[in-house]
Amino acid sequence: MSSDSTAEQDHLIENKLEVAATTAKKRVRKRQHRTPMSSILHTDALTDIVKGIAKDVISGMLPQRIEVVTTGGTKVKELEDLTPECFEQVVKLASLRRNIMLVGPAGCGKTYLAALIAKALDLSFSSISCTAGMSESQLLGWLLPTGEAGRFEYRPAPFITAYENGGVYLLDELDCGDSNTVMILNQALSGDQFTIPQRLENPVVKRHKDFVCIAACNTYGQGADMLYVGRNQLDAATLDRFTANTIAMDYSPAIEEALVDPAVLAWGRKIRAKIKECGLRRILSTRVMIDFTLHTDNYSTAKEDWEDIYFRNWTEEEIARVKDVEDNSTQEN
Ligand SMILES: Nc1ncnc2c1ncn2[C@@H]1O[C@H](COP(=O)(O)OP(=O)(O)OP(=O)(O)O)[C@@H](O)[C@H]1O
Ligand SMILES: [Mg+2]
Repeated sequence: MSSDSTAEQDHLIENKLEVAATTAKKRVRKRQHRTPMSSILHTDALTDIVKGIAKDVISGMLPQRIEVVTTGGTKVKELEDLTPECFEQVVKLASLRRNIMLVGPAGCGKTYLAALIAKALDLSFSSISCTAGMSESQLLGWLLPTGEAGRFEYRPAPFITAYENGGVYLLDELDCGDSNTVMILNQALSGDQFTIPQRLENPVVKRHKDFVCIAACNTYGQGADMLYVGRNQLDAATLDRFTANTIAMDYSPAIEEALVDPAVLAWGRKIRAKIKECGLRRILSTRVMIDFTLHTDNYSTAKEDWEDIYFRNWTEEEIARVKDVEDNSTQEN
């Protein structure tokens, strides 16, 4: 090997080690939130985190090099963030400035991913949590008496700011939104401009080349189901703006392995399998497992504690069915 290529190799390794060290700090902080890092220095949690990062670095998952289209054009970025399996696909669609819909169970990382996409593309991020009572003004802006002598002036809503200046705008929980109210966005989402009459001096709103709209939903917009009971049916024309770029998400094995305590994860995956096997209307999200990890890291909880909390609003029958599966599988083993 020439000295040039040895130096290159050394540089590459050094770079990877630096990424690993930064990632380790971030993952430890994420796991511990506000608890001092020193408190986990002697725990298995730290070993698990370091092992996980070593695995990611060796397998080439870290740092993730990804081609993105930023405001300054196409560039390759190195990301140290944990990303779900669909990340590359979503980044590509966002780089093409398409409308994107993320559909997946509660707590699988849809909202988090939308913000991550903005970060990857060097774009600003704003969002709205859609509800049945949301107003058109929350999307299009307000006329407020803030001018001289109480004159009404137009104040843009974050959607308009992102549409005109570029940025990722998240319609979070779109399937909770009023299907008629969100139709006010139909023109904006399918075209390059639309009109807001309340902005008297400049009613035409032009789409910036770097505007990306992401919608996040727990359902495919066909209305409430047995699990997500507060959902609305979305208008077919609204859905059509996202149809080709609708991405199904699920709980990410890679993210859970990086963020969740191994014992919590093993327990959680077993419960999930039982929920599926018994066809129960229940979920066990990444969010819940991260919280149980926090409990475990901070005050040494165990399976019995997680179950006390998690099964609290389950019926006796549901618990019995899950336990039954557990007993049967123990007997089979
Ligand atoms: N890529 C990621 N990196 C780090 N943490 C993540 C990532 N994705 C998800 N999480 C964690 O999982 C939690 C749940 O994610 P998020 O709130 O985005 O889920 P969601 O799919 O939007 O859920 P809901 O449908 O209930 O709104 C987050 O609070 C975050 O802690
Ligand atoms: Mg969310």
